[in-house]
Amino acid sequence: MKFILLAAMVCSLVACQSKEEILHEQYVIEGRVQYENNCANCHQSNGEGLRNLYPSITKSRLSAPELAKLIKQGRKSATGYMPANPKLQAIDIAEIITFMRHEWGKNEQTFSFDSTRIVLKQID
Ligand code: HEC
Repeated sequence: MKFILLAAMVCSLVACQSKEEILHEQYVIEGRVQYENNCANCHQSNGEGLRNLYPSITKSRLSAPELAKLIKQGRKSATGYMPANPKLQAIDIAEIITFMRHEWGKNEQTFSFDSTRIVLKQID
């Protein structure tokens, strides 16, 4: 009986989140910090970009693997230059992508560390 009461109390405190949900929230929180530190300078905190200089990324159609490669390698085109991020590790990139999905994609799926590592291995 005591145990059931305790379990009920703990549940009401932490809303009984699963391990996956907790991990997802950690990714989103960390990803927001990484985004602010590495991306918001150009694309702004709200992802809307800066006039003609930096594009809005809130409606980008890139898949998660394409996005992982873009973040790591950067891109130079006729219209703009996005620098590479050699210092960002797979975990950082996984968190940024998960944050972006959460924030702008209305997609609550975690893009995992393992998935990101596999993508980055292909471009090493
Ligand atoms: C120095 C400015 C700068 C920084 C910092 C920067 N970007 Fe970009 N980003 C750009 C520019 C410029 C483009 C357009 C490149 C082009 O025209 O090919 C772009 C394009 C993009 C796109 C759109 C790609 C598409 O085709 O839809 C995404 C998504 C993106 N950046 C995400 C990020 C993320 C995530 C970060 C942080 C890890 C980041 N950017 C950091 C300048 C920047």
